[in-house]
Amino acid sequence: MSDHIKTEQAGGVLTVTFARADKKNAITQDMYAALAEATERARNDDAVRVLLFRAEGDAFSAGNDIGDFIALASQGQGAMDMPVFRFLKSLADLDKPAVAAVRGRAVGIGLTLLLNCDMVVVAEDALLSAPFINLALAPEAASSLLLPAALGHQRAFEIFALGEPIDGRTALAWGIANRAVSADQVETTAMELATKLAARAPNSLRKTKRLMRDGERLWALMQKEGEAFGSQMTSPEAMEAFMAFTQKRAPDFSKVG
Ligand code: COA
Repeated sequence: MSDHIKTEQAGGVLTVTFARADKKNAITQDMYAALAEATERARNDDAVRVLLFRAEGDAFSAGNDIGDFIALASQGQGAMDMPVFRFLKSLADLDKPAVAAVRGRAVGIGLTLLLNCDMVVVAEDALLSAPFINLALAPEAASSLLLPAALGHQRAFEIFALGEPIDGRTALAWGIANRAVSADQVETTAMELATKLAARAPNSLRKTKRLMRDGERLWALMQKEGEAFGSQMTSPEAMEAFMAFTQKRAPDFSKVG
């Protein structure tokens, strides 16, 4: 287990909290393992009707921990060996509703996780981004399918290629959030939705979700994305991007062939 992921169950809702506020809830390998465990538990435990993701601090998540990327790339460990893939598989397999409560930044998997949720509540001033290309990486979590399916190719491409954030109001207007509310209302609104879902007929909900989301197809795509992600992760251009982040400077891709 990771100290940076907390779980709490009440009234059929399993709440999973990102608890690494000092690092903007950047997600480490230990955290992915704990997230996978919680998501698998949500699927298998009859007492859990709904999974709710939320975060401590002022950011939902700054995405994958970049220090972990550097360590994994220098060990030459392929992306598919990382605990993140156990978490992604558990998300693809999850046939119970997942809800997210998003305040502040949601970067990388902080955004692509939302595409794998069923109901998303964002703060109006939340900032959502998927700057994989800024880090010389590739989309993950089936976002190469789910984001263009929700936004259309051009908007999705811009989000990936330019890596600039959209705010919560835009996320609502573009169909990747159910509610955009003031930041202080996010948690209550998300819990109200989760509680409503937890009272619905559980098998009917599961069958509905399974009809709407093809988990096997999503998992197959996650693995394909993982190949592109993994080969990019050990590339010179990614190393330049990771080093630029740690040195708090802009990456220079001009010399990368
Ligand atoms: N991995 C590792 N550490 C991270 C991190 C990440 N993804 N995101 C933030 N942190 C750390 C910072 O290094 C900093 O640590 P320090 O206090 O030891 O210097 C701390 O969290 C606070 O971050 P900071 O950048 O000072 O906060 P900010 O409010 O100015 O900016 C973000 C917040 C999220 C915009 C910015 O941190 C950021 O761009 N992070 C990287 C996001 C990213 O590219 N994620 C990967 C996507 S695939």
